Amino acid sequence: MRFLVLGAAAGGGLPQWNCGCANCRDARLGRIAPATQSSLAVSLDGQSWAVLNASPDIRIQLQNCPAMHPQSLRHSPLRAVLLTNGDIDHIAGLLSLREQTAFTLFATAEILDLLAASRVFDALSAAKVARRAVALGAGFELLPGLQAQAFAVPGKVPLFMESGTVQTDLSGEQTVGVRLRGCGKTAYYIPGCSGVTPELLEMLQDANQLFFDGTLWQDDEMIRSGTGAKTGQRMGHVPISGPEGAIARLQAVDAAKTFVHLNNTNPVWQPDSPERAHVLASGWSVAADGMEITL
Ligand code: MLT
Ligand code: MN
Ligand code: ZN
Repeated sequence: MRFLVLGAAAGGGLPQWNCGCANCRDARLGRIAPATQSSLAVSLDGQSWAVLNASPDIRIQLQNCPAMHPQSLRHSPLRAVLLTNGDIDHIAGLLSLREQTAFTLFATAEILDLLAASRVFDALSAAKVARRAVALGAGFELLPGLQAQAFAVPGKVPLFMESGTVQTDLSGEQTVGVRLRGCGKTAYYIPGCSGVTPELLEMLQDANQLFFDGTLWQDDEMIRSGTGAKTGQRMGHVPISGPEGAIARLQAVDAAKTFVHLNNTNPVWQPDSPERAHVLASGWSVAADGMEITL
């Protein structure tokens, strides 16, 4: 099973258009590598690929990735897209896939309903892009020979659907993780998760590879850095550090572990930061655009 990190950053990317934080400045100056928005590609044979989340940067992501280039006049190795939630950083790229090449779009019924409610997504012609609803816990074939299963992880509705009091630990079809099984190996992709539950820990016991939500180093990072008023918890993301953070809560998961979906404020982007050193010393890697992982 072969993975390609198409985009390692959270919504906004690195640098984010309107951000002058130290990381975004350094990315503009070429002192640290820039990163595009959240997406992971997977393949068993290197010929047919599935893309997990369609980021607004998908056009340049596919261009930057030779494995994704057309092999004939009108063609793409992209055979499937799977969505883990309805956030803009995970769905807006669908609009860049509207040029009449067939693929299958997999998501929960709730996420598909959200797309159906926005007529702009009708630009993906139904004749070419079949929308397949996946039930929580039910297996399906994402690519030939690649078994997948979506399961609920704690989260919230997309930002643009929020109203009133927002529950950030909903368990249902609005935020899912994905289990992938192929070539005798098991991988999990969970780019958004507001907390590590006992059920999730139990599920991850058979993982060979885990890609997990690394949005923020600490819960109040946006507030501390003066870039925003929200905590990570409010945005539906568990932090990397702290007693309830991903490193501590996922310590028992005996797999290769990689943080994905990193916000531009995250200190782990800096190669020499103590935070990054801590992540690496804890047995995790940090995704970067173009990173390849083969199981
Ligand atoms: C998130 O992961 O918190 C979202 O991408 C936020 C957004 O849609 O901007
Ligand atoms: Mn996001
Ligand atoms: Zn920034």
